[in-house]
Amino acid sequence: MIINNPKGTQDFLPPLSTQKSYLENTFRKIAQLYGFEEIVTPTFEHTELFLRSTGLTTDIVTKQMYTFVDKGNRNLALRPEGTPGVVRAVLQYNLKLPIRLFYIGPMFRYERPQKGRYREFYQLGVEIIGEGQPEAELELIDLAMRYFRELKLEAVVTKINSVGCKVCRPQFRNSLKGFLTDNLSKICEDCKVRAEQNPLRVFDCKEDTCQAIYQSAPKITDHLCYECQKHFQTVLEGLSKRKLPFELDKSLVRGLDYYTRTTFEFVPTGASELGSKDSIGGGGRYDNLVKDFGGPQAPAIGFALGLERILLCLPKPERWRPLVFIISLDEKADTEAEGLVHKLRDADIPALKSSQVKTLRAGLGLADTLYCKYVIIIGGDELQKKVYTVKNLVDRSQVEVAQDKLIEYLKATL
Ligand code: HAM
Repeated sequence: MIINNPKGTQDFLPPLSTQKSYLENTFRKIAQLYGFEEIVTPTFEHTELFLRSTGLTTDIVTKQMYTFVDKGNRNLALRPEGTPGVVRAVLQYNLKLPIRLFYIGPMFRYERPQKGRYREFYQLGVEIIGEGQPEAELELIDLAMRYFRELKLEAVVTKINSVGCKVCRPQFRNSLKGFLTDNLSKICEDCKVRAEQNPLRVFDCKEDTCQAIYQSAPKITDHLCYECQKHFQTVLEGLSKRKLPFELDKSLVRGLDYYTRTTFEFVPTGASELGSKDSIGGGGRYDNLVKDFGGPQAPAIGFALGLERILLCLPKPERWRPLVFIISLDEKADTEAEGLVHKLRDADIPALKSSQVKTLRAGLGLADTLYCKYVIIIGGDELQKKVYTVKNLVDRSQVEVAQDKLIEYLKATL
């Protein structure tokens, strides 16, 4: 019996796996350009870490977390997101602030699987801990946009909002609570609980009827204190100045509890396989989390991108590999092929040769199966003329290339 992968998980087969590595390596390169260093934290943590950060009343913690008790009776959870683990590590090892860290790795959420929504998925994330100025928001959004440009994913807009702070939020909560009480009979059961425990969370509700009602609900952005208002205004002006496209979205509160002030999401605007409702990334400020974890008062901000969702927005990768397959047609040519395969690898050109194929037809068939882009044919004729026959398997064209010009030719065309 063949056992399949668990529901909600995904196998990355070639060439998708190559495209996944490309996304990760490009993210590494760009994060480093902005002064970030990589951090790797465990894929599971003490459950309490997420209860105290992501939030006790969030969908992620109440409905989606993979929790288990291990053989040592510890309550553990597969991480549903990267931020809490990064903040924990910064405090545990007393890292100097400010610090810029990035991470790449799998996250786990028990969600209803659909296109772009998985139970195991990869995030590419950045966190700046210890920077409170609006400049940090601009740096992060600029970084994300540079990354999308590099991937040739040009049509992405940043939806942005401010969710206020400890000063302005309590007052807003009361006015929202009043609105929810007036509309209690019209909202779903989940939202009735949210209205009681954490009213802001109603904006995360996936029910269309609830969302229609919340259109006319009071919005936090209209209730910001002076400091939050000033901060947000500077962020918006900075985005305009840098020509970074954004849309103010007053309902954007994001489904995690630690956010303060700026929250944002990256939404693709072009046609793609990804549903139009889904964002490819999101983040925001969390100026109290470090303190709440027992650390110093250190403002912080970050975002995470969903790798699978970005893949759904990009063209499918081609199966042909930049790989050269050498076919030798007699014993003398075998010796030449043996030398050539090493010479190509020394020049950073991926190459294979097979001593098993003795006919040209078999060799070409094997090269096709392996999705090699080029075949180099060496026979008596070629040896005598000091050339190689180079066949392009993608367009099936064929040329003769002088032996000493081969590396140059392949480098220019692979
Ligand atoms: P989040 O919005 O929960 O934020 O997730 C960030 C991104 O992860 C989403 O925009 C989406 O692209 C991807 N994602 C989330 N859930 C799934 C899923 N089930 N399947 C596929 N992709 C998914 C956070 O996780 C915060 N830690 C971001 C952050 C960092 N805030 C501050 N620093």
